[in-house]
Amino acid sequence: MSEKGVNQVAVIGAGSMGHAIAQIMAMAGLGVSMTDINREFMQKGFDRIKWSLEKFVEKRTIRQEEMDAALARIKLVDGYANTVSNADFVIEAAPEDLDLKKKIFHEIDANAPPHAILASNTSTLSITALGSATKRAERVVGMHFFNPPQLMPLVEVVKGASTNDETAQTTTRLAKKLGKTPVLVRKDVRGFIVNSVLGYVFNEAFWAMHRGEATRDQIDSAVKYKAGFPMGIFELADFVGLDIIDSASKEMASEYSDRVKVPPVVEPMVKAGKLGQKSGEGFYNWKTGRPRIPFELADEFDVDRIYVTAINGASWLIHEGVAVPEDIDTAMKFGAGWPSGPCELGDRVGLDTVIEKLKELNARLNDPSYKPCPLLEDYVAKGWLGRKSKRGFYSYAS
Ligand SMILES: NC(=O)c1ccc[n+]([C@@H]2O[C@H](COP(=O)([O-])OP(=O)(O)OC[C@H]3O[C@@H](n4cnc5c(N)ncnc54)[C@H](O)[C@@H]3O)[C@@H](O)[C@H]2O)c1
Repeated sequence: MSEKGVNQVAVIGAGSMGHAIAQIMAMAGLGVSMTDINREFMQKGFDRIKWSLEKFVEKRTIRQEEMDAALARIKLVDGYANTVSNADFVIEAAPEDLDLKKKIFHEIDANAPPHAILASNTSTLSITALGSATKRAERVVGMHFFNPPQLMPLVEVVKGASTNDETAQTTTRLAKKLGKTPVLVRKDVRGFIVNSVLGYVFNEAFWAMHRGEATRDQIDSAVKYKAGFPMGIFELADFVGLDIIDSASKEMASEYSDRVKVPPVVEPMVKAGKLGQKSGEGFYNWKTGRPRIPFELADEFDVDRIYVTAINGASWLIHEGVAVPEDIDTAMKFGAGWPSGPCELGDRVGLDTVIEKLKELNARLNDPSYKPCPLLEDYVAKGWLGRKSKRGFYSYAS
């Protein structure tokens, strides 16, 4: 099926992500049917779409006629059967619960046309598991938008074990049609690309604080003002939600027990009801607005530790066939707002320097997370050191 074949989209779940996905599909000229568990939630989603479109009109990003046309393309529909019956592409954005999503996939599989692709916006769950709840696992795919989907440019297109290339390609073309930048996640690993690299980086910051090597403010100041990340690590964790960080890091640790150890930092906070921005308190107190991160502490934490952890994490993704360097760099720049991707950064710094730093940290802190990925060791052994040797993650002309 070519992208011309995707004309009608069904959106399951009209919450924070679902309503926004329905909106951008409609703005791209596609017909949309959107459902939720009841009329009230559907209408709430529709009202949020209207609010967002009005903002675009106010800012002159779109014209009033375009807003009216987009709204006219969205239908609120009761029940899965009617929602998906004429869909070319279904995207599910229901709560992050595997049993619930499997039930939904089973139902939509039974009611969607045979050619339709069934996609999930899940951040953490297995696309392979969702595919197994259907009779069309080859046409089940992850289409992971970032919040808010109206503004965030990145989409991770995730292949499950049975997803065929045509499905991934159609989903990639659809993402481009929405004006997004898609990257391909070739293997269904937890965290996909962005949350996987962020997971390593969160752990590094949490352990450093837990071990008393640096304070929250020192780490966030270095990350924000020296590395140029859009937010401090602790600030970002609060923004994402500590409950989400807690379950994602536990999942990563169970999948990669040889190299991921969860620091005992976030779980006690979650148990105490400190969930970050949404509960008013996490690492920071959000009741008085966005935290002020002190500029003057930027030299008091060695930000290279964050870099080498990210570069090592990216190497594991390449080593395990999850993604290519270009897609990892694109994902971290467009999905996390980093000024450079970890692979281009590694090539700039020198992969021999990265390994030395990891080994120095490992010797000092005896932590398996600093074990250099075999891919990095292999590159350095071959003399692929990055820009200085004209070959690292990338090849460089003279
Ligand atoms: N919020 C984010 O930052 C973010 C980012 C990327 C991906 N995601 C993923 O997107 C999905 C949705 O997250 P969200 O933040 O929009 O959640 P949300 O709670 O805001 O919305 C979920 C919606 O699904 C509806 N729903 C519940 N059961 C349903 C069912 N059986 N059938 C249809 N609809 C049902 C709910 O009523 C609600 O309106 C999750 O898988 C989440 O992991 C979230």
